[in-house]
Amino acid sequence: MKTLGEVLKLAAEYLENKKIFRAKRVAEDLLAHILQSKRLDLYLQFDRPLGEEELMPYRAALSRLAKGEPLEYVLGEVEFYGCSLKITDQVLIPRPETEILLDRICKRLEGENLQNKNAWDLCTGSGCLGLGLKKKFPELVVTLSDLSPEALQVAKKNACLNNLDVEFLEGDLLTPYSHKKADIVIVNPPYISQKEFDNLDPGVRNFEPKRALLAGETGLEFYQRLAKQLPFYLNPRARVFFEIGFDQGEKIMTLFSEECWIVKFFERDLSEHHRFFFLEFE
Ligand SMILES: C[S@@+](CC[C@H](N)C(=O)[O-])C[C@H]1O[C@@H](n2cnc3c(N)ncnc32)[C@H](O)[C@@H]1O
Repeated sequence: MKTLGEVLKLAAEYLENKKIFRAKRVAEDLLAHILQSKRLDLYLQFDRPLGEEELMPYRAALSRLAKGEPLEYVLGEVEFYGCSLKITDQVLIPRPETEILLDRICKRLEGENLQNKNAWDLCTGSGCLGLGLKKKFPELVVTLSDLSPEALQVAKKNACLNNLDVEFLEGDLLTPYSHKKADIVIVNPPYISQKEFDNLDPGVRNFEPKRALLAGETGLEFYQRLAKQLPFYLNPRARVFFEIGFDQGEKIMTLFSEECWIVKFFERDLSEHHRFFFLEFE
């Protein structure tokens, strides 16, 4: 029987041979997850023998990683802005930029009277943005929507797991919101062009849902549609918060050139790119 220390060493070497980035750390994260232990606590158990019932799921998970599957799908969960989220291959893995977006939104909303205001998370995927927002501001009435019933199932499970009372709508972009109006809209839509999609990292292209990434030939399709449709779905002084592609700022600013947008500005991500686009309605 091999000890935990020996198994970890072998696993790290295996992943390194498969060119997995930060192989040692990934091997540790995975074993900690399977043993339901903290990663650092593994260091206190190096001499502990590992039984077949522990090794079997570890081998299976290592083999998925070796085929290029992202760690988050193999683990099946991520932490996002204070929420524990289940993740399947039906939803995009929430990105650090998206967590920054939510943090910026929360900082802007802090101190306001949000009682019974309506907030919509369009294109919700795992539910990360809408659920994180509801957790921070329970007084908001939050609705999560997505075209994909499978994604909505994941978002519903995540709402349950985090004890968050939100509403769900299924359908194409704003279609399920007919006759409704929002005070806050958050959207991280698909924004990858066909050309970018063809050149994506294989870990993303082969494993993450295409419908969560691709937005037509130019990558701007969702912003074009929302620029036209959003004004019919907003209460006075509503705010809209977008995540956008790192090089899309100029084109998106032009799309939202109507006078009904009385405030519009970008915020930068950690790489200094315009990644967040904020608007206020008249
Ligand atoms: C970029 S992902 C964002 C997921 C999540 N909000 C996040 O930030 O991680 C885009 C999401 O839009 C959904 N989607 C794609 N086309 C859609 C459409 N026409 N209407 C509504 N949702 C759509 C996809 O299913 C996917 O969940």
